Amino acid sequence: MQICRSKQSMRDCVAEWRASGRRVALVPTMGALHRGHLALCRHARDWLDARGGGRLVTSVFVNPTQFGPNEDLATYPRDEEGDLRLLRDIGADAAFLPSVQDIYRPGAQTVVEVTRLSRILTGKLRPGHFRGVTTVVSKLFNIIGPDAAAFGEKDYQQLTVIRQMVADLDMPVQIIGVPTVREADGLAMSSRNLRLTPQDRAAAPILCQALNRAEQMIATGATLPATLQELRRHLATEPRAEICSIDIRDADDLSRITTIRQPVVILLAVRFGTVMLIDQRVACP
Ligand code: PAJ
Repeated sequence: MQICRSKQSMRDCVAEWRASGRRVALVPTMGALHRGHLALCRHARDWLDARGGGRLVTSVFVNPTQFGPNEDLATYPRDEEGDLRLLRDIGADAAFLPSVQDIYRPGAQTVVEVTRLSRILTGKLRPGHFRGVTTVVSKLFNIIGPDAAAFGEKDYQQLTVIRQMVADLDMPVQIIGVPTVREADGLAMSSRNLRLTPQDRAAAPILCQALNRAEQMIATGATLPATLQELRRHLATEPRAEICSIDIRDADDLSRITTIRQPVVILLAVRFGTVMLIDQRVACP
């Protein structure tokens, strides 16, 4: 596995692959890799293999521009050695670990922003967050020039924002959406789970349980208000869970709905102590 610590070395590496006609797939991450990230790598590898093979790059970059002033940038978990070991084990061809200085040159003035989708739902709770995500992902696409890139459904709004950006700006990258990987008790894997107290960790699977119940209700014809009410009631049975938002939206474009006629996505944001957990489920009537 090649380790590229600068934009230039990454570009040189991809140029060599391209010269021998290889396809390239990218998995962008912020590191502290777990089974969720590795599932993205596996899907990206399958995408390449289905097209005769190619090269897989995983980027590890804790992107400062997507963190708000009161968010956890300084304490975001970092484990470069562990990340590189996992990426070698899974057979990544290159790891891209650029420095902040290399990615954000002084004097930069350009950002990429998906206007409407970035300002709703969690975007409302985290102003500027998705602008940071779309800017850094555009930069990664420009540096690496992948044919495909994989993103998790766990961050459903992020996936939707990226798809919109790629369509709006005619980026020649196929976006691969990957289902959420969970712990045995249903909790969606996340590097933030490590921050939960043992009591909060024990309580956190309530998100997945509430989603299971709501999905079942929608499948058997429940109305939007009845499903929302049941989600609220269910989550309120866990005193450690502080509900930040519960939304049911159109699964394609996250627009508001009044009745459930097409696939919808249920989006939960719930706080346990200082840790905000998100989870989602697509449900079909
Ligand atoms: P990060 O939180 O490291 O996540 C990297 C990718 O892994 C994202 O596409 C995310 O949706 C996916 N992922 C995380 N947990 C998952 C799980 N349990 N199952 C499936 N996929 C999972 O998301 C980011 O980093 C950043 O915003 C990034 C896109 C890298 C831009 O900086």
